[in-house]
Amino acid sequence: MAQQEDIFKKVVSHCKEYGFVFPSSEIYDGLGAVYDYGQNGVELKNNIKQYWWQYMVLLHENIVGIDSAIFMHPTIWKASGHVDAFNDPLIDNRDSKKRYRADVLIEDQIAKYDEKIEKEVAKARKRFGDSFDEAQYRATSARVLEDQAKRDALHQRYQEVMNAEGGIDLEGLKQIILDEEIVCPISGTRNWTDVRQFNLMFKTEMGAAAEGASTIYLRPETAQGIFVNYLNVQKTGRMKVPFGIAQIGKAFRNEIVARQFIFRMREFEQMEMQFFVKPGTELQWFEEWKKRRMAWHQALGFGAENYRFHDHDKLAHYANAATDIEFKMPFGFKEVEGIHSRTNFDLSQHAKYSGKKIEYFDPEDNTSYTPYVIETSIGVDRMFLSVMCHSYCEEKLEGGDTRVVLRLPAALAPVKLAVFPLTKKDGLPEKAHEIINDLKFHFNCKYEEKDQIGKRYRRQDAIGTPFCVTVDNQTLEDNTVTLRYRDTMEQERVNIADLRGIIEDQVSITSLLKNLK
Ligand code: GAP
Repeated sequence: MAQQEDIFKKVVSHCKEYGFVFPSSEIYDGLGAVYDYGQNGVELKNNIKQYWWQYMVLLHENIVGIDSAIFMHPTIWKASGHVDAFNDPLIDNRDSKKRYRADVLIEDQIAKYDEKIEKEVAKARKRFGDSFDEAQYRATSARVLEDQAKRDALHQRYQEVMNAEGGIDLEGLKQIILDEEIVCPISGTRNWTDVRQFNLMFKTEMGAAAEGASTIYLRPETAQGIFVNYLNVQKTGRMKVPFGIAQIGKAFRNEIVARQFIFRMREFEQMEMQFFVKPGTELQWFEEWKKRRMAWHQALGFGAENYRFHDHDKLAHYANAATDIEFKMPFGFKEVEGIHSRTNFDLSQHAKYSGKKIEYFDPEDNTSYTPYVIETSIGVDRMFLSVMCHSYCEEKLEGGDTRVVLRLPAALAPVKLAVFPLTKKDGLPEKAHEIINDLKFHFNCKYEEKDQIGKRYRRQDAIGTPFCVTVDNQTLEDNTVTLRYRDTMEQERVNIADLRGIIEDQVSITSLLKNLK
């Protein structure tokens, strides 16, 4: 575990050192849980978005895209339930004046029990060596059993409090914190306030005059922009149910516990798709979208063992099925994408609050109905983090050297080809530029002339560039270059005229999409 945490720290500093992700407003000491994407980060992020968009919109004839505004009529958030119910339970420590999410304090306490159990098992493993029977130890060790019982009882109680009739039982949450003797990590005391609900939406005002101004919200999800455009798109696109509307865009949440780098941010980006279906068919479509979305993730080649579904036992009142796709991050399996069967809740609510009829006339059986919805919702930043964590690799080389290499899928890599002149003279830089000027129309190329070739290779390995080319004096004679492959570090002499053919297919988004056939 400690080793995994170590890797995570390395990924975070690598992101900064190599221009992937910077803390926002860093010269002013940063802004909590807000990040900027640098010169390499933006390319990787754009490639992830393209991979999603091309799969969802280009490969599905019955899905179209939109780009709706971030500002929306405030009643939308009343209709969607966000004004009344998009809350986190918060608790303050009176001594440190620090605020915490009460549910997270308890989840951390559960994690502490888990850690204690794992430590106990690890110690025994070391003690007994090869003869260690882990299952038997877990089933018989008095210490492990005692901790496991405490952990399970806490988990059970926590579930009951979070899923209480009529919403979260706030008093119950506080009582658990007191009973478990959870202390504030800053003050070390148990001087807690009551637990209160805190709405996660950011508010601002629209309109200049103080009187005429109205409160509006920064959208906490992009989905509502799709629901309120359902009629527009269905009519103008003459869409037939089942069909989908996809969107990529920013979302904002005033997260109180913002941690794990870009995993939980206050400003982030979502890629969401709402798929409108005939009532009664939604659970088949839910299963279908589970399959399709999992296939999309796995086509990146990170290994099926690193993904799992986490089906929700307790559903929101408007949902009749929900699951998360989780990815194995260095800090455990974590949600990257949610797939929800949202019934006709959102469209019905908007019909009710707007007074407009939002229905679909089905020409096949002459009926009108409010379509049901399957939603797929993935965070771009979480996807980015999972790609970085999986690709980051420290390799021991022959001769004792090490290299850090980002084994990114070539189609996602920020730079596809780096071109180096061996020296800065004899017309080699000009020849290198000639190659770039020809290939830059097809994929992202980068010119580098500083330092020895070995160092240049290392810099490109560190940002995940799959191909490097070196131009030397022989190039001037026979138009051949040395092509070097990132993963194997193998080199071969190839003709300049063949470079496009060798590289283009491997670095295109299409190469990933073909894995999905
Ligand atoms: N429209 C449904 C919806 O927004 P969600 O589970 O709240 O569902 C969907 O969010 C996805 O958005 C998550 O799976 C996650 O990838 C991403 N996400 C949510 N909150 C986030 C945050 N604070 N920072 C980064 N990504 C976030």
